[in-house]
Amino acid sequence: MSFTKKFAVIGQPIEHSLSPKIHKIFAEQLGLEISYEAICIEPNEFESSVRKLFEDGYYGLNVTLPLKELAFEYANQLSEQSNLCRSVNTLWKEGSYICADSTDGKGLIQDLNNKEIEINNKEIVILGAGGSAKAIIPSLMKENPKRITLGNRTISKAEMLATEYAHLNSAINIIPMSIDLDFQPDLVINTTSAGVLDQDLEIPNNLFTKETYAYDLSYSKSETPFIQMAKNLGVKKAHDGIGMLINQAALSFAIWNKLIPQTGISKSEIL
Ligand code: ATR
Repeated sequence: MSFTKKFAVIGQPIEHSLSPKIHKIFAEQLGLEISYEAICIEPNEFESSVRKLFEDGYYGLNVTLPLKELAFEYANQLSEQSNLCRSVNTLWKEGSYICADSTDGKGLIQDLNNKEIEINNKEIVILGAGGSAKAIIPSLMKENPKRITLGNRTISKAEMLATEYAHLNSAINIIPMSIDLDFQPDLVINTTSAGVLDQDLEIPNNLFTKETYAYDLSYSKSETPFIQMAKNLGVKKAHDGIGMLINQAALSFAIWNKLIPQTGISKSEIL
């Protein structure tokens, strides 16, 4: 008799999540029978809804916006990574314990490695100081960049994040968006939600040269507004965040199923 393991991604809104498609592709690759749904959960019903899902036999849950910090508060056993970034995107049960990990940062690093984009001893600029920036900074720092500079519209938010991460191996440099940059970044990562919100994004002057890598955590079928802007400013090497999405999903899949899926999925298969 075959046994179908049940999984879901929870968030609000959730209907556009690509996780069900990605996980089903992984399961097919590996000959596993799984179900994977997208379930909308209200933040104020987080605990009761998640408890019920595990009672109903769900084996693992992915957690997305705006529930990642609630999942951090809820879990009993946190990985080193989720403890560092105080965020959780993967939940599962071991005995009576709810275990948790955050695979976003590692997913980004794996995607950068696959694309042969170096971090070690490089000047990294992160635009945005919200939840997405918070989730990736510890993983980037672990790779020993020359420096991480955080640019944000609201400078106090960037300062708060830098203070929160003051214990990491080197200090985060803070800049406002309205600045003439006096150094050349090797890699610029956009974590702002400006593109998704269809808003203009102010960026520092001289942010890009034609040698700079531009990486957008957002993704879309066509070029994202940030990638378009970077290319208009002379950038030759630019990627959106679909690779990070696939890699973070693969890491969750591996935690739950103890099998490592192949991440070479083309964008057209899922978008
Ligand atoms: P997420 O969890 O996706 O990171 P968030 O925590 O709401 O979302 O953070 C959104 C980030 O995008 C913030 O850094 C925000 O800047 P502010 O702190 O100044 O609000 C940034 N952001 C959103 N819209 C922006 C815009 N139009 N221009 C510049 N930054 C923007």
